[in-house]
Order: sequence, then C-alpha cells, then structure tokens
Amino acid sequence: MSQGFRTRNLLISHPNMNKLALYVSFLHLLFAHAVAQDSPPPYIAPDYILLNCGSSAANSTSLDDRNWEGDSHSKFSPHNIQTISNSSTPTEQIPSVAQVPYMTARIFPNNFTYSFPVSSGLKFVRLYFYPAKYADVDKSKSFFSVTANDFTLLRNFSAFLTMLTLEPPAAVVVKEFIVPVLRTQYCLNITFISLDSYAFINGIEVVSIPNNLYMDNTNGTGIKFVGFDTIFYTFDGTTTLETMYRLNVGGKDVSGVEDTGMFRTWVDDSPYVLIDNFGITAYDLPNDTIQYTTETPSYTAPEIVYKTFRSMGINATANLNSNLTWNFTVDAGFNYLFRLHFCETLQEVVYLNDRVFEIFINNQTAERDADVILWSGSRGIPVYRDYIVLIPNGNRRKLDLLLALRPNVVSKPQYEDALLNGVEIFKLNRSDGSFGGLNLDGLVVPTSPEGNEKLTERKRTSLRIMAVIIVISASVIILGFISFRVSKKAKILGSRKVGDSNCLPLPSHLCRHFSFAEIEAATKNFDDGLIIGVGGFGNVYKGYVEDGSSTVAIKRLKSGSQQGAHEFTTEISTLSKLRHRHIVSLIGYCDEDREMILVYEYMNCGTLRDHLYSTDNPPLTWKRRLDICIGAALGLEYLHTGANHLIIHRDVKTTNILLNENWVAKVSDFGLCKIGPISVSITHISTAVKGSFGYLDPEYFKRQQLTEKSDVYSFGVVLCEILCARPPLVRTALKKQVNLAEWFRECYHEDKLDEIIDPCLKNGIKPECLKKFVEVTMSCLLHDRSKRPSMKDVVGGLQFALQLQGSSCDSPNFPELDD
Ligand SMILES: *[C@@H]1O[C@H](CO)[C@@H](O)[C@H](O)[C@H]1NC(C)=O
Ligand SMILES: *[C@@H]1O[C@H](CO)[C@@H](O)[C@H](O)[C@H]1NC(C)=O
Ligand SMILES: *[C@@H]1O[C@H](CO)[C@@H](O)[C@H](O)[C@H]1NC(C)=O
Ligand SMILES: *[C@@H]1O[C@H](CO)[C@@H](O)[C@H](O)[C@H]1NC(C)=O
Ligand SMILES: *[C@@H]1O[C@H](CO)[C@@H](O)[C@H](O)[C@H]1NC(C)=O
Ligand SMILES: *[C@@H]1O[C@H](CO)[C@@H](O)[C@H](O)[C@H]1NC(C)=O
Ligand SMILES: *[C@@H]1O[C@H](CO)[C@@H](O)[C@H](O)[C@H]1NC(C)=O
Ligand SMILES: *[C@@H]1O[C@H](CO)[C@@H](O)[C@H](O)[C@H]1NC(C)=O
Ligand SMILES: *[C@@H]1O[C@H](CO)[C@@H](O)[C@H](O)[C@H]1NC(C)=O
Ligand SMILES: *[C@@H]1O[C@H](CO)[C@@H](O)[C@H](O)[C@H]1NC(C)=O
Ligand SMILES: *[C@@H]1O[C@H](CO)[C@@H](O)[C@H](O)[C@H]1NC(C)=O
Ligand SMILES: *[C@@H]1O[C@H](CO)[C@@H](O)[C@H](O)[C@H]1NC(C)=O
Repeated sequence: MSQGFRTRNLLISHPNMNKLALYVSFLHLLFAHAVAQDSPPPYIAPDYILLNCGSSAANSTSLDDRNWEGDSHSKFSPHNIQTISNSSTPTEQIPSVAQVPYMTARIFPNNFTYSFPVSSGLKFVRLYFYPAKYADVDKSKSFFSVTANDFTLLRNFSAFLTMLTLEPPAAVVVKEFIVPVLRTQYCLNITFISLDSYAFINGIEVVSIPNNLYMDNTNGTGIKFVGFDTIFYTFDGTTTLETMYRLNVGGKDVSGVEDTGMFRTWVDDSPYVLIDNFGITAYDLPNDTIQYTTETPSYTAPEIVYKTFRSMGINATANLNSNLTWNFTVDAGFNYLFRLHFCETLQEVVYLNDRVFEIFINNQTAERDADVILWSGSRGIPVYRDYIVLIPNGNRRKLDLLLALRPNVVSKPQYEDALLNGVEIFKLNRSDGSFGGLNLDGLVVPTSPEGNEKLTERKRTSLRIMAVIIVISASVIILGFISFRVSKKAKILGSRKVGDSNCLPLPSHLCRHFSFAEIEAATKNFDDGLIIGVGGFGNVYKGYVEDGSSTVAIKRLKSGSQQGAHEFTTEISTLSKLRHRHIVSLIGYCDEDREMILVYEYMNCGTLRDHLYSTDNPPLTWKRRLDICIGAALGLEYLHTGANHLIIHRDVKTTNILLNENWVAKVSDFGLCKIGPISVSITHISTAVKGSFGYLDPEYFKRQQLTEKSDVYSFGVVLCEILCARPPLVRTALKKQVNLAEWFRECYHEDKLDEIIDPCLKNGIKPECLKKFVEVTMSCLLHDRSKRPSMKDVVGGLQFALQLQGSSCDSPNFPELDD
C-alpha cells in the first residue's frame, strides 16, 4: 500500500498539474482505502499499453504495480530499432525519481515512429520524460517534435527547459493528450522528430477512453461558448486535447490507479484557490455512495472527486461580498474546454433553489443560475458541465484565467453559497493540428552558470523572435510573403529610429506629410464640435486644410497606446499606395511630437448605417442600395486581390462603409484596426457579436484566425441589413438574442423573408432580383469558409441582381446599370 503511494508522488508530476503534496497523510490513506472498497468497478480500457522505452526487459513493474513492456523487442517498435536508435540510462540518478519508466530512455538522432495498433476512438496518450544527462548527449540541446497520426502534440519541445518551468520544481515531465483514432486508421503512430541534436523518451502510455466521455456531441446544441450567448461549439471528431489541469476540488490528490480505469491523476485544488476566500472543504465524507447515471456514468470521475468539494462557507453575509476563485495560467491564442464536476452531498441541500450560484470563467458569465439539484435531480447524483473558453492572442503569451463562483442573489436561494467538486481544463489544438511551440515565459533560471548563460541567450532569442512576430502581425496582414522575407523586413524597420521620416519608406509622392501646426489649425485645436467619430483608437475630426478650401477627416490616434510608431509608419506606407474608387483615400499623416495622425478624404454623406437605422434621413431606394453594396464589394475585392498583397479588412460593417456626396460607397478603416491590438481583442469580439449583430465570422471562434473569407461573411451581414434594415428585423433579432445572420437564415428557411424586408422597399424589388440578392447573401453567410464565394463572385452576383432589377422594370426609379 505505502509503496503505491510513493509511486503516485513520483510517477505523476504533470507539468501543469504538479502541485502535488510531497507527503503522504495518514488521513489520505484512509480515504483511498474507503474508496477502494465501495467504488463501482472501473472501466476496462480495450487498449491499454505501457511502454518502457529504452528497456530490454520484457516486463518491468512500476511502483504503482503496473507492468511496463520494454520497447527493445516490442511489436510497437520498428524492426530496425537497434540501428536507428540507442537505449540509454541517465548518468544522474535522483532517488526521488522512479525506476520505471524513468531510468531507461530511448535516444533518437533522427525521426522515429512507434506504431500502436489500436481500436478507433479517443485515446489518452501520456508521454513521460526525465530530462537527465544520457551518455554524452547534452540535455539542453535536445529539441524535438512529437506527432500522433495527423496531430502535432509537441512542437520544438525541450523536456529540459519545460522541466525548469515546473512549479513547484519537479525532475520529470509528463504530458497528457487526448487523441482521436479514426475508423480508417487502425493505428496510432507516435513519431519523434529530432530537430537539433536528438530526441528522447522514457515512457509512453496509451489508454482507451469510453465513447461519449469527452468531446461528445450527443447534446445537439453543442457546448456553450462562454461570453457569447448565441454561439455554441461542436466537436467534429478532428480535435486533440492537451490536459492542462485536473483537480479534485476540496479533496486530496488521486493517483492514476485510483482513477476509474483511465489512470488520470487528479490533484488537490488548494494551490489554485485565491487566498482571500479559501472557502471550506468537506470534513466528513458522506457515507452514501455516489449514484452514477447514464448521463454521468461511473467512469466520469472517481467517487472521491464527487464526495469532496469546496464551498464558500456558512457566513452568508461574507459569501455575498466575495467570490470563490481559482487561478489558472494558460497560453494565449487557444480555445479551452472546461469541464466542471458537481455533486450535492450535504444532508441540508435537498430541494431546488437550495443552493444557486453564478459561474464566471475569465470574467465572463458561464452560468447565471447553477442549481446542482435542478441539474442532477437529487443529492448524491453527480453531474458535469462543459464550456468552451476563447483566450485570444494578445500582448502576453501566458494569461491568468480565473474561475469564480458566487451566490446568485436574484433567485433568493435557501443557502447563499456556491459549490464545486472537480475541474478539468484542456487546451484544444489549433487549426494546424498543433498546440504551439515552446513557451519560455516564466522560465526559472538554472543554477549552473553554464546552463544559465545558455538559457538567457535562448530566452533573448525567443524574445527577439516574439518582437518580430508582433511587428508583423500588427501591420496589415500580408500573405504570400515567405517568412524569411518578413522577418528580414521587420528587423530593418525595427532598427530604425522612430519619427525620423528620412529613414522611413514613406511615399511622399503618394501621401502628404502634415505638420502638427497644420493639423491643429485644421481642427481648430481639436475642437470637440468637430468630432465626427469616436473609436477605440481615438477621435475622428472634420478638418479644413489648404486654407479651408479642402475638407478632410482627421483621425488622431490616442497617444500612449501600445501600438508603436513602427506599425504606424508601416501602415501608412501600405495604405497610401491603395488607390481605388471604392476605398477611402489616405491623403496624409502627421508624426510629429509622438502624435500619430492620419488624414483621409472627407465623405459628405456619412456612414451607410446612418441611412439605414434610427435616422431622419429618407430611406434609400433599392437601386441606390444595390449600387452602394456593389461599390463596397468592389472596394473589398480590391483589398483582397487588387493591391500588391492580400489585405484583410477584418472589420466590415455598415459603419465602415462611407458615402460621398454622389452616393459613391467607399470602404474605410481597414488598417486602423491593425494598428491597434495584434489580434481581435476580446472586447472587439464582444462588441462585434453583441453590439453589431455579429459581423464576426463564426469560424473565427474555432480557428482564431481571420481570412479574406471572414470579410465575405461580414459583408453578408451587411447585405442582410441592406435588405432588411429598418427596425422590424433588428428589433426581433435583438429580442430573441440571436445574431442577425442566424435570424436571416432562419427566416429564409422558413420562407418568411418577405416579413422582414424593409417595408420601405416592399414594392420596389423585382422578385428575380430579390432571389439573386438573397442567394448571394446566403452564400456569403455559409458556415464553411471554403464554400463562401470570393468577393469577385459577390460583385458578379450583385451586378447580375442589379441587371435583373433593371431589365424587368420600366419604372423610372430603377434606371439601368450605369457603370
Ligand atoms: C508481465 O508480468 C505480468 C505479471 O507479472 C504478466 O501478467 C504479464 O503477462 C507479463 N507480460 C509479459 C509481456 O510478459
Ligand atoms: C549509439 O551510441 C553510440 C555511442 O555513443 C554511437 O556511436 C552511435 O552512433 C549511436 N547510434 C545511434 C543510432 O544513435
Ligand atoms: C522527419 O520528419 C519530418 C516531418 O515529418 C520531415 O520533414 C523530415 O524530413 C524527416 N527527417 C528525416 C531525416 O527523415
Ligand atoms: C527550437 O527552439 C529553440 C529555442 O527556442 C530555437 O533556438 C530553435 O531554433 C528552434 N528550432 C526550430 C527547428 O524551430
Ligand atoms: C502508421 O505507420 C505505418 C507504418 O509506417 C503506416 O503503414 C500507417 O499507414 C500509419 N498509420 C497512420 C494512421 O498514420
Ligand atoms: C446541452 O447543452 C446546453 C447548452 O450548453 C445546456 O443548457 C443543456 O443543459 C445541455 N443538456 C444536457 C443534457 O447536458
Ligand atoms: C456516517 O456514518 C457514521 C457511523 O455510522 C456516522 O457517525 C456519521 O454521522 C455518518 N456521516 C454522515 C455524513 O452521514
Ligand atoms: C460574516 O461576515 C461578515 C463580513 O465579512 C462579518 O462582518 C461577520 O462578523 C461574519 N459573521 C460571523 C458570524 O462570522
Ligand atoms: C494568478 O497566478 C499568477 C501566477 O501564479 C499570479 O501572478 C497572479 O497574480 C494570480 N492572479 C490573481 C488574481 O491572484
Ligand atoms: C466576482 O467575480 C465577478 C466576475 O469575475 C466580478 O465581476 C465581481 O466583481 C467579483 N466580485 C468580487 C466581490 O470580487
Ligand atoms: C478580470 O477581473 C479581475 C478582477 O475582477 C481583473 O483584475 C482582471 O483584469 C480582469 N481580466 C480581464 C481579462 O478582464
Ligand atoms: C485540430 O487539428 C485538426 C487537424 O489539423 C483540424 O482538422 C482541426 O480543425 C483542429 N481543431 C481545431 C479546434 O482547430
């Protein structure tokens, strides 16, 4: 028994779930004993493989009594294993590190694949690393990638550097993934790709996962996307997960052999709880057994997870003024799957509304009224809830993410309290099938001076690389560059002095340099009365230049904002070259005195939106609307294909389509959004989704990446508005809390479009024209990006719609196409 416990402490040192107690408490022993006695039988995994890499013993037993097969003569190893790899033992042996599987390693100078014949379905893949010195190879030089079938589990991974970041310090690194094996694959190939000098591995574990345990789509709605009321996430069977955290909330560490047959480790949550309200934990475990159900089968989590909990405590006054909060560090630029486990076990909590609480993840509401009795039906019945959380890329690569619970006061529950029993947090792979590269943020510098130097150097390199990436992504997205050229260019820009226009590639023949005095004169010293727009980047003023003979729009970027002058100038040099009838022209700029000011042509008739909603302006005729949307589409087509590089607007909406005195539509504000945050910020998304009828491409939520087809989607939303604009649609959509595109789609499928078309247009649209227009709109709004038309096709479709309107109509209101 005690041997098993020792094992647990040694075997399971997951890098991110490593807050393991290093002692064995007597109580703990009792707990484990009790659990073992009345737990339901564990899940029997059809595939269960433990491979002791570098070992030639047929069979070795780890401290937790599991049998590991040596890989030297294994059927999972390639037959030429002896010639393409070496087995080795670490020269440094730390007593606390278990013999099996860590005291043997397989070393690969080149690519190497283990092939595990397994059934289809999800598998846990656990990789065990002990980054020690093996023979004459340098542990700090080992960088490698690991793939599992089509997924990249680890990219440019250094077990040694990862080990240095472990908190609290540990000598071994365990990585856990959930990998799908398709019906057509029959095999799980785990490949080690050595990058610099060599790759190595100490142990590999493959364990089947019951169908429907994770990433299950049987709940047809999909998984709630935290912070977005109308967006749900569905797994399509092509996603891998990396385990970040698995906590037995309010309880003790649970070792793999105490799990329900999948050998997951669950750790005590106390290191993650914010100290200002530590809550209380179970002091007396319930005698009743946990009653598992078909929704929450017994393998979901061990009984001990559901029997122990953390709640806020008995002082309702105190509870109402605080949150019970956990703090997790995660990498930015990924989606995360949160699974929260609940089970009411207290005698007092019996009825609905006894204990109701709110759940926040990353400051966003995940549940307004979590009532575990409502969810489960009764005390003693466990339930879990899944959530997807989007952590966009930002200035920082690692973020602290808070999970907070607090009583729901609105429902006036019997107990003003909150409850949690378990948490699992997984990172979803990116669209390229990977989990990102080495992340050295927060690296602990090693004690040896030699390693120290190397590390600082590495860290510096990685910071430099990061700086380059930031410069690039902050400027207009230019695809088609090979990365080498990009970084070269960025370095050149980066080495120049800010504000020194001579050095900058600013095209004075294309765009004018204004002095700050000129700008001040033009805006009457930034007179508030001249403000025509307010945005996150600063204000837009109407201004008069050339002795008042010429009207311009002047955008003054907030000083002190994070965007550097480099990005500003890069921006200008790109934007000033864009010249198109349907693009708002950049006339000039001012970069004196750390000011960042852009001067644009002035558009007399304002934004398209000003003519669609809540306005005293007379309604636009259908013909004019068609002209406007064709113009805007031509502008976007130019950005996508006409300029030297692909330019993605990223913020297409009716307020960014401006109209001049002749009703010519021009696209504005491309570029400025790129001077701002590096990627779309969370507030930007929220505004886009909630405030502006959801212009944002739904695929963004999956891929966290905007493409030119995202502009096509947003343009589809603009088309909806052009057709339906005045209030009925918008009001209904807002009331129903659906986004405009979804609402439009629904009405289309229910054949109710005529109910939502702008009443001002009712009799003016020819049916053929309407049919074509709606067809174009629906195609832009397709969920699958690849099926959406290009802007060129959109232009073609709209021009055709205009012709249909013109040719079948003899009304003078609808003259023929003039372009
Ligand atoms: C390893 O040993 C266990 C028990 O000692 C035995 O059940 C198992 O069959 C052995 N496996 C192999 C591959 O020899
Ligand atoms: C195995 O180790 C020996 C001695 O260090 C070395 O000469 C040989 O190249 C290695 N073989 C492989 C495949 O790494
Ligand atoms: C190793 O695998 C990578 C990725 O599959 C491939 O690009 C590379 O050429 C391979 N190297 C060798 C030596 O086969
Ligand atoms: C891997 O990462 C290290 C340190 O971050 C870097 O020096 C090296 O160039 C990277 N290798 C590859 C192939 O990306
Ligand atoms: C795994 O590797 C084997 C041998 O190289 C190959 O035949 C098989 O197609 C691979 N399977 C997958 C799913 O990649
Ligand atoms: C299905 O998912 C929705 C949305 O997250 C949730 O409200 C509902 O409770 C779920 N149903 C079940 C049975 O889990
Ligand atoms: C569990 O059983 C013991 C002895 O039978 C009893 O003293 C204790 O109060 C019970 N605990 C609970 C939570 O019911
Ligand atoms: C409950 O908490 C409040 C506010 O934190 C405190 O003032 C009060 O003394 C507490 N009551 C008890 C009984 O501890
Ligand atoms: C969360 O944890 C990180 C790192 O452990 C720490 O820097 C940060 O201050 C914590 N956040 C809060 C709100 O306590
Ligand atoms: C509790 O958390 C929510 C969401 O993060 C936050 O809005 C609220 O201010 C917090 N309350 C307290 C008392 O910290
Ligand atoms: C979340 O709320 C905390 C305090 O309630 C605040 O410090 C933090 O900046 C917020 N984080 C985000 C991403 O809004
Ligand atoms: C994960 O990777 C696969 C394979 O590259 C890809 O098809 C899938 O879309 C990715 N999942 C997510 C959520 O991006």
